[in-house]
Amino acid sequence: MRIGFLGTGTITSAVVTGIAADAHTITISRRNPNRSTDLAARFGNVSVAENQQVVSQSDLILVGLMAQTAREILPTLTFRPDQIVASFMADMPLAECAALITPAKAEAIVIPFPAIAHGGSPVLICPPSRVLAQVFGVSNHVVPLTNETALTTYMAAQALLSPVAKLLAETADWMATRTGDQAGAERFLRILIGGALTAANYNQPSALRALLNDLNTEGGLNAELREFFAAKGVFDELIQGLDQLERRLKL
Ligand SMILES: NC(=O)c1ccc[n+]([C@@H]2O[C@H](COP(=O)([O-])OP(=O)(O)OC[C@H]3O[C@@H](n4cnc5c(N)ncnc54)[C@H](OP(=O)(O)O)[C@@H]3O)[C@@H](O)[C@H]2O)c1
Repeated sequence: MRIGFLGTGTITSAVVTGIAADAHTITISRRNPNRSTDLAARFGNVSVAENQQVVSQSDLILVGLMAQTAREILPTLTFRPDQIVASFMADMPLAECAALITPAKAEAIVIPFPAIAHGGSPVLICPPSRVLAQVFGVSNHVVPLTNETALTTYMAAQALLSPVAKLLAETADWMATRTGDQAGAERFLRILIGGALTAANYNQPSALRALLNDLNTEGGLNAELREFFAAKGVFDELIQGLDQLERRLKL
């Protein structure tokens, strides 16, 4: 497929890296020049062009701009009715994007994550789209969402990644002050947590509850640390934090 990217920032670079091996012809905005030049040099099927050329020579256009920039740039570009547009902008309703790219079709909001560059990462697609599932599902996991309220919930929940990384980093530091081996501590924790989470098939229902059950030996170390956290109110605070993000995203 001929795929164009408007805006060559952090997320576009990750997506291009993640899908470049999938036999597409990819055109990316000259901006950001360092990133666009680097991507074109790394992948033979990636070329750099001005914004209008990106649009004109693509069947699917992915908008990797900040929302305010998109409001200024998209109306200056000419789209065709046979083109499909998907937006990476979670903070712009799809209806608004549709009005900016008419007469092309605003297919969906697509939220990839930087790990898409390496594969195995979730890609939120709202509403579900067969063509976008084909593009993003080759080496990553498509998560279809039927409405933008659900997208808001998922956007709030994805922010859990940073506190989880912080918990692991703090634990690795704590270990290293005792063992003197920071790298070994990080490696151990990443394998421990990653392995436990990916052991069950992703389609297995209640896999997290099953894992908690397995880690619930009475008097066991896991159960003791979890109950220590619960007594300190950590899990209640987590829900409050998620509620706060949800309120912000609904504004
Ligand atoms: N980062 C993430 O993990 C992530 C994940 C999902 C969705 N998103 C969404 O994706 C969008 C982009 O995020 P980002 O993190 O990739 O931001 P970013 O790194 O700041 O990228 C924005 C890109 O837009 C370019 N740009 C600015 N003006 C332009 C113009 N007139 N024509 C063409 N390109 C122009 C910038 O180029 P210059 O550098 O030359 O100014 C830059 O390449 C945002 O709406 C964000 O919410 C981001």
